[in-house]
Amino acid sequence: MTELWLFLHFVAVVTWIGGMVFAHFCLRPAALATLQPPQRLPLMAAALGRFFALVGASLVLLWGSGLAMFAGITGSGGKPPLSWNLMAAIAAVMTLVFLWIVLRLHPRMRSAVAACGWPNAAAALDAIRRLVVLNLALGFLTIAVATLGRLAN
Ligand code: HEM
Repeated sequence: MTELWLFLHFVAVVTWIGGMVFAHFCLRPAALATLQPPQRLPLMAAALGRFFALVGASLVLLWGSGLAMFAGITGSGGKPPLSWNLMAAIAAVMTLVFLWIVLRLHPRMRSAVAACGWPNAAAALDAIRRLVVLNLALGFLTIAVATLGRLAN
């Protein structure tokens, strides 16, 4: 059963972290290089909206599978290793950052785009970009903790 949870866990991790890598290192620079704000900002708002919906679904998988693996070890009388607790703690911060983006910044960007307020939309997108970079760094840290943490077990 753990293998199935781990599989679902990886599907969620790959979707979330891989999507952030694509958005930050490929989509954003390409859009900046080829499109003017009236084309670029609606594209980015729409693309991010689709990505955030996928991340929302991934979060359910991520937490569901992670907590199931925790339950597996505590249910059989074991104690979760420090690396698991660290992984969950960093993931909790990442989840809060994501919720801030999705509930505050992205709606702000969408309204600015709908009103053709390009400077406001660009400012909201820049705030999203900075938090995505933060979550990307935390995501790689979590992967390091999860995998290299095995050395300490
Ligand atoms: C973005 C956030 C997360 C990332 C990048 C991440 C990454 C990983 C990776 C790479 C593994 C495989 C470790 C290995 O097999 O060596 C793993 C396993 C695991 N994760 Fe996460 N994880 C995240 C969030 C969570 C959350 C929220 C929980 C719990 C609530 C959790 C609990 C676990 C558990 C229990 C395992 C099994 C560890 C093992 O078998 O050694 N993870 N995770």
